[in-house]
Amino acid sequence: MNEILGVFMSEHKIIIDILNLAEDCKALDYLRILKQHNEASFNHSLRVALFSYHIADNFLKGDALDAGLSGLLHDIGKIYISPAILDKEGPLLNYESFLIHSHPVQGEVVLRELGVNDKIRIPALKHHRLSKKPYPSNTKILETDPVDFINVVSAADRGDVILFPRKYNGDNINIEGRVLDEFMGNKEFIRYILINKEKYTKEGLAITNFCKDYIQTKRLS
Ligand SMILES: [Fe+2]
Ligand SMILES: [Fe+2]
Repeated sequence: MNEILGVFMSEHKIIIDILNLAEDCKALDYLRILKQHNEASFNHSLRVALFSYHIADNFLKGDALDAGLSGLLHDIGKIYISPAILDKEGPLLNYESFLIHSHPVQGEVVLRELGVNDKIRIPALKHHRLSKKPYPSNTKILETDPVDFINVVSAADRGDVILFPRKYNGDNINIEGRVLDEFMGNKEFIRYILINKEKYTKEGLAITNFCKDYIQTKRLS
């Protein structure tokens, strides 16, 4: 029991450290807005933060907390997308897809206005560029981009889709195979999450539970 508690406590420490970084760059209010706007997207962002941290900790030298922050903020643009669209089950209409596909650009604008640095910010704009059907269509991943971070956050994002499937992914049959097939980035990063699937599923649930109240009560600096 203590061992289990110990694991969860260390996950809490990681997410608290990442939330402190979000507070430092004045993004915490936007996360609170995301939580009120669409709790599923907020919980997804927390898990992507945690998975980004673990992937970076395992594969990159240092920077794991920054990777976690980038993961935490990657979908912040969803505050501008209607929850009716975010939560819609089944296929999206063309205009609904168009609106959803605008969230990377919207998120990048928020983070740019906050003065968030390139390494943290650019994955928000380009985390759907490593897909078989990449978007936004008017962006490309450049050599000068933080390619490692884009890979980490995109893989964490896809890993979360596998561990916590959404209703609009259809029947979710062979979701692991489909997600891996459609991911054009470093597949090792997703496989790392999958190898530790049971552990990260538990930790993902634990941090979303923990943050339910924590984010509201956390004192503004
Ligand atoms: Fe996204
Ligand atoms: Fe996402």
